[in-house]
Amino acid sequence: TSVVVLSGGISHERDVSLRSGRRVADALSRLGWQVRTAEPDARLLPDLVADRPDVIWPALHGASGEDGSLRSLLDVAGFAYVGSRGDASRLAWDKPTAKRLIEAAGGSTPASVTLTREVFREIGARAAIDTILGSMRERLVVKPSKGGSAQGVTVVETADQLPRALMDAFTYADEALIEERVVGTEIAVGVLEGEGGAEPLPAVEIVPRSGFYGFEERYTAGATRFYTPARVADDQAAAAGELAVLAHRAMGLRHLSRADLIVDADGRPWFLEANVMPGLTETSLLPQALTSTGQDLSTAYAEITLRALSGA
Ligand code: DAL
Ligand code: MG
Repeated sequence: TSVVVLSGGISHERDVSLRSGRRVADALSRLGWQVRTAEPDARLLPDLVADRPDVIWPALHGASGEDGSLRSLLDVAGFAYVGSRGDASRLAWDKPTAKRLIEAAGGSTPASVTLTREVFREIGARAAIDTILGSMRERLVVKPSKGGSAQGVTVVETADQLPRALMDAFTYADEALIEERVVGTEIAVGVLEGEGGAEPLPAVEIVPRSGFYGFEERYTAGATRFYTPARVADDQAAAAGELAVLAHRAMGLRHLSRADLIVDADGRPWFLEANVMPGLTETSLLPQALTSTGQDLSTAYAEITLRALSGA
């Protein structure tokens, strides 16, 4: 089996992608497969056409890898590849859209408003803050509407932190998502498709030492403590698994995804976002969930790849 693992790219998550790509390539190489890595640059399509690998694994995070653009190109060019198609990726990559879809499907997601950079400029920070605070509770999380690895994300404790938080979000996207903060247990639930359809992996509980699961806390060994399975009651874990699968289906995701959730004090899971290509680095969540079940990463990634190869 010949595989091209795509990693790197020019998104804000380039370095994370290089780490994910290396891990995937190593895992698949251990099977004796013919694996090479490639950057998604101008040479990509001509090289792929010349190479005609059996299957492509886009281990790309951030724009181009997860926003559906590159995936749509692979769709048009008729390549077999791992993960969601372009159209579905586009839906999941945009957090406000993902939240609307999960709500329409019957899942819970924190109340939110979105604000475009243009409106923010037009009405000014003061008016924007009054509008936001007028319609929402005070504990807020401000995020770029599109992005990953917590870049541009701020937990806002007091109103005077809002302008800076919005500005940070606008450096990553044209739209900011201002969400009510649900306090509870932060968990991530990987979803894998197998013979029986989409199934949740055990929930991974995330306990960052700093209290905030930011970029450093994600990719520095020891900066975050993980508990797999998450320390929540069995029925709560089951509900979280159902919500993750609901998200996977509602957005039409394929092969694998990961939902990031909060379980509140009443045990109810809230959807924050779905990841089109979950991180696959040494400290990432989906690989931890896989190994917690006793699965070997090479075998698990091979199954996903063969699924993509068979066109399922
Ligand atoms: N965006 C990073 C890669 C993640 O979701 O794991
Ligand atoms: Mg994410």
